[in-house]
Amino acid sequence: MPEASRPWVLITGCSSGIGKALVSVCRDAAWGVVATARRPADLADLPAGGDLRRVSLDVTSAESINSAVTACAGLRLVALINNAGYGQMGPLELIRPEELRAQFETNVVGLQAVTNAFLPLIRKNALKDEGRIIHVASMLGRLSIPLAGPYNASKHAVVALAETLRLEIGQEIPVVLVEPGAVASSFRATLAGAWGDLPERVKGTRYERVLTNFLKTREKQAAHFAGSPEQAARCILKALTQKHPPRRILIRPEARLAGWAKAVLPAAVWEWILRRSYGL
Ligand SMILES: NC(=O)c1ccc[n+]([C@@H]2O[C@H](COP(=O)([O-])OP(=O)(O)OC[C@H]3O[C@@H](n4cnc5c(N)ncnc54)[C@H](OP(=O)(O)O)[C@@H]3O)[C@@H](O)[C@H]2O)c1
Repeated sequence: MPEASRPWVLITGCSSGIGKALVSVCRDAAWGVVATARRPADLADLPAGGDLRRVSLDVTSAESINSAVTACAGLRLVALINNAGYGQMGPLELIRPEELRAQFETNVVGLQAVTNAFLPLIRKNALKDEGRIIHVASMLGRLSIPLAGPYNASKHAVVALAETLRLEIGQEIPVVLVEPGAVASSFRATLAGAWGDLPERVKGTRYERVLTNFLKTREKQAAHFAGSPEQAARCILKALTQKHPPRRILIRPEARLAGWAKAVLPAAVWEWILRRSYGL
């Protein structure tokens, strides 16, 4: 493909997991990829090529976002995948305001700030039916589970942002929500890191046993059910390449099953199932 006509996509959070898998899946599909990460060293192992730019980007820093926009000025950037995010877990009554704020700064405020910063470039470059804004939310943007309040809330907010943006600009640039179920990535390791002193805080509370059970269950579930980042990336690629992409892409059978169960079951039954499975 002639260099000047190559379409480029910028992806946030490419140091691991879905973001990293997206880089190779998109390159294989003849996209140019602006792979971004907070620490440029995390992108060093990506195979070099004319179809790759490595750019430093922390979605919570206006300065970092502005530098990334400048780095993309010479590219025909037509699409953005807002993938960066992490999970702040913990029983809501023990969560500190700063933990909730930090969760929203990355998963919600950062996502919108990046979108607003790159939208003018995408508008300028995209041919008809080519532009794309893709938000990676979660099945936890459709339903809430215990002990994941900050994360549930952030992903519900991402759904609302995508729905609103779609109403505002969707006829010009399609806005697609991607809602994965469990994916085997660094997500769960990062989650433990984001706890801080939470294991200390739960000691002696009704959540101590619940959290221990939760961890055991999550580990088992992750081992049994989690899909690969590559599989998730291939689903997201469809949102980039289809002429008329769907509004929402649910990834993983358990995400579809849980969404269906919540929709059809009486609320009291749904809550009973969740409380019981978490030992609450
Ligand atoms: N894994 C799952 O089961 C699952 C399920 C549903 C939805 N998701 C969503 O999928 C997306 C990707 O997650 P993943 O599973 O691939 O997890 P991951 O392997 O932990 O990747 C998350 C990425 O987000 C980046 N990130 C975090 N904070 C950032 C910031 N302030 N600025 C820029 N980048 C930042 C991380 O970079 P660092 O290395 O610098 O921290 C990392 O590259 C997330 O939005 C997550 O919520 C995941």
